[in-house]
Amino acid sequence: MQGPFKTYCIIGDPIDHSLSPAMHNAAFNYIGLNSTYIAFRVPKGELGVSLDSLRATKISGFNVTIPHKVDIIPYIDELDPSAKVARAVNTVHQIGGSFKGYNTDVQGFIEPLRKRHISMDGMKILLIGSGGAARAIVAALSNEIGISQIIVANRTKKNADELISMASDLGLRADFTSLENIGEHALKSGLIINSTPSWLNDRQSILNYDHISKDSIVYDIVYRPVVTNLIEQAKNAKATVIYGYEMLLAQGAKAFEIWTGINAPVEAMKRALLGHFGEPS
Ligand SMILES: NC(=O)c1ccc[n+]([C@@H]2O[C@H](COP(=O)([O-])OP(=O)(O)OC[C@H]3O[C@@H](n4cnc5c(N)ncnc54)[C@H](OP(=O)(O)O)[C@@H]3O)[C@@H](O)[C@H]2O)c1
Repeated sequence: MQGPFKTYCIIGDPIDHSLSPAMHNAAFNYIGLNSTYIAFRVPKGELGVSLDSLRATKISGFNVTIPHKVDIIPYIDELDPSAKVARAVNTVHQIGGSFKGYNTDVQGFIEPLRKRHISMDGMKILLIGSGGAARAIVAALSNEIGISQIIVANRTKKNADELISMASDLGLRADFTSLENIGEHALKSGLIINSTPSWLNDRQSILNYDHISKDSIVYDIVYRPVVTNLIEQAKNAKATVIYGYEMLLAQGAKAFEIWTGINAPVEAMKRALLGHFGEPS
């Protein structure tokens, strides 16, 4: 084992199903770093006291998940541009007692699209959901050239309106639709993104295959199960699919690199996420 002993963690609630400890411990073991990563359940309302404890223990770094990605901002000493643009933090690095906040979901979201060399020039995009992950998605999309329009579909219009205003501040044209109307927009969208939770699609897909064009890309950021109902429907429609685990892996690799300064062992991290069965076909 190399280097001084370092501890990392993830804070959030619920946290018991997080895949981040398995993914990061696999990376530390693969490289041979003398480091470990654990999960802490931190309920809403206990963030401040929990962060005081993490500072006291001189934690080297940590990830932040639901429900703290936005609420943590006042506790952070310095924000990276990724966190400033997304107005949310999912990764913190402790340097000399100071907390620096990043949003690696921004890069994590875009990387699977880049890998497939997908151009968004002239594209209409349907974004389902307006929560913390959707903010990182909009921040990532604002770096792309030529997107013609983003249709934001959400249960609560007020939350969608806030996201639309953020998109507009970043130079994107965005408009609202209700969840009932997503079918008609989906058929005209080059990229369909789901950022609502998995249980919402547990029984049936949020979209049916007859609302998905074979020329579209369907990106479900939900990673559990790996093959969601929406991904199944997209495959039935013969559309291109992007799995949520791809974003999880890319944001985790970026966090690893921020903390360690070492290139992330992506294949080892992927094996920890998918087991030894490999990628779904
Ligand atoms: N692959 C990855 O790396 C990655 C990264 C981040 C997140 N995620 C996943 O993305 C999902 C969303 O995360 P988040 O951080 O954005 O969560 P969040 O901030 O809690 O946002 C949840 C979104 O889902 C909507 N929603 C929740 N319950 C609903 C219901 N019963 N009916 C209709 N809409 C509902 C919310 O709408 P309202 O505005 O109406 O409440 C909101 O738009 C989670 O499953 C998370 O695990 C994946």
